[in-house]
Amino acid sequence: MTRTLLVTSSPRGAESLSTRFATEIAEGIRARSGGPLTVRDLAANPPPHITPAYIQGRATSPAERTPEQVEAVKVAQAFVDELKAADVIVLGSGMINFGLSSQLKAWFDHVTWPSVTFGYGDNGPKGLLTGKKVYLVTAAGGVFSQGPWAPFDFQTNYLLHLLGFIGLSDVDVVRVEGTVFGADAVKAAIASTEAAVGALLAKAA
Ligand SMILES: Cc1cc2nc3c(=O)[nH]c(=O)nc-3n(C[C@H](O)[C@H](O)[C@H](O)COP(=O)(O)O)c2cc1C
Repeated sequence: MTRTLLVTSSPRGAESLSTRFATEIAEGIRARSGGPLTVRDLAANPPPHITPAYIQGRATSPAERTPEQVEAVKVAQAFVDELKAADVIVLGSGMINFGLSSQLKAWFDHVTWPSVTFGYGDNGPKGLLTGKKVYLVTAAGGVFSQGPWAPFDFQTNYLLHLLGFIGLSDVDVVRVEGTVFGADAVKAAIASTEAAVGALLAKAA
């Protein structure tokens, strides 16, 4: 049985291509494995920005936390529990101003938690969420996988770094890109993403 966690984060609602294809992957895996699917929609329910109560609370033993710290840490604990419980994580992200939506950034600010999702070993930082498969769907108006704009991809590369930092290093990436160049470009991007998703699901079966 495969337990799948789908995390979506685009603020573009029903128009979102990252949400569309991440959902397709997650539902495809669920259909094949028969296991449970948990959906965390960060756009519908945005995580709060992190606060002193969270930062100090997570460094304080549970019995000594103030009521405000308890509430702040609870939010992060819920996100981390979902990650820990999952065998497969499907993450959808739409590029906003060359990087992540603030919703997704806030989620990473909660789940990147010293001694819980990463630690420090003899050779430096060590991710603790190991043994999980990740499918990352990134959407962008421009083309960032190659060409002159590649150096300005602060989305996919950053996400791969953040995921790897907490131990999620087995990642298949699906890029939906170049959609800013008109209706034909949108059609082509959707067609090639459909094919990529189909190939990934065939491999996952
Ligand atoms: C507020 C906003 C900012 C955006 N910033 C960029 C950008 O910096 N670079 C880019 O290539 N596309 C940008 N786009 C286009 C989106 O990345 C594109 O529509 C993508 O498909 C969004 O992901 P989604 O389809 O999952 O919502 C932006 C779109 C919005 C709404």
